Amino acid sequence: MYDVARIRQDFPILSQPHPSGKPLVFLDSAASSQKPSVVIDAMTNYYRTQHANVHRGIYALSEAATHAYEAARDKVKSFINAEQREEIIFTSNTTGSINLIVQTWGRQNLENGNVVVLTAMEHHANIVPWQILAAEKGFQIKYIPVTSDYLLDLEVFERILSEGNVKAVSVGHVSNVLGTINPVEHIIERAHAFGAIAIVDGAQSVPHLPVDVQALDVDFYAFSGHKMCGPTGIGILYGKRHLLEAMPPWQGGGDMIARVTLEGATWNDLPYKFEAGTPAIAEAIGLGAAVDYLQGIGMEAIHQHEAELGVYARERLAEVEGVQCYNPAPPYASGVATFTLEGVHPHDLAQILDYEGVAVRAGHHCAMPLHREVLCIHASVRASFYLYSTREEVDTLIACLQVARQRFL
Ligand code: ALA
Repeated sequence: MYDVARIRQDFPILSQPHPSGKPLVFLDSAASSQKPSVVIDAMTNYYRTQHANVHRGIYALSEAATHAYEAARDKVKSFINAEQREEIIFTSNTTGSINLIVQTWGRQNLENGNVVVLTAMEHHANIVPWQILAAEKGFQIKYIPVTSDYLLDLEVFERILSEGNVKAVSVGHVSNVLGTINPVEHIIERAHAFGAIAIVDGAQSVPHLPVDVQALDVDFYAFSGHKMCGPTGIGILYGKRHLLEAMPPWQGGGDMIARVTLEGATWNDLPYKFEAGTPAIAEAIGLGAAVDYLQGIGMEAIHQHEAELGVYARERLAEVEGVQCYNPAPPYASGVATFTLEGVHPHDLAQILDYEGVAVRAGHHCAMPLHREVLCIHASVRASFYLYSTREEVDTLIACLQVARQRFL
């Protein structure tokens, strides 16, 4: 049985009082999750007993650090079922991973006349890097629209593909605003059928549901450590080996080279070709501990727990007069409830909720095109749930919203 009370004990911050003196109700895990003690301890232990640089020292401490760093790569490989450890690149976060793809694969393969397909529900991290390169190279970006049910319009996607010249399709697996679980398996299959590569932004999926990159047959998959109980400063780029082999490096420096002369350099093998400079060693180790922790609970169980909370939250939100939700129905919904309250600016609402100890995100959530051009609002409030979230926290949110509504009437 899923024991949320037991899970909450693993997260020290959840038993800290909020500055208001009220219990902390943390409903902003889609922005960044809290950390269990095992992750904090793994990083502290590394700094206390193992710290040295990796891949460099011919001495026991450096070898221990290298071993721990590389063991984290193996854990991530198993977690997403990659075929080879060389396909797991440590980056800084999802944004870093997508910029790496755009600046290497994109710079090498895209030119005037090509098309890159994104969606209107993307996070800025999967829009802006492409726009920057498009301005330089002259390729076109086309967007899959969002339906009134908060789903991707797959008919339009098919039409865009059949118009031709599509070289890459890059989509979010789970929308950070709508919580929509997109049919990425279908999207990848259709992209491949038209000779395009498929890239998935997994920032909001890997922390919350089982992901198998081989079953998806995805070409690149990007995600962050800090949204999956791991530390900030570490992210992952998964890429199929043959694509990574063919790509030039992004950043130059130590560790990514095989040989350097005054005239030029040759590149290290994968994955190091893409890991210039001293990496985020403690963060990788912390991420490895987070992977162990999540696997111990089970991703299917976590997904189930969050999906149930999402349904409950949206049902309860419907009781509050003036609330409008922006989420799809199951089975496309996840543990996210995004809404507006008539007559109250989302920022004011988040402030009022914070006085009651309830932490939510308010604004455009790094998805301005979705807000302005699809939802036709400037901002929304988002409550996002994780493995430690409870029905009682949802009840607190609803009670606070009722109070806020009275105050603004
Ligand atoms: N991308 C993160 C969010 O949705 C920061 O809040």
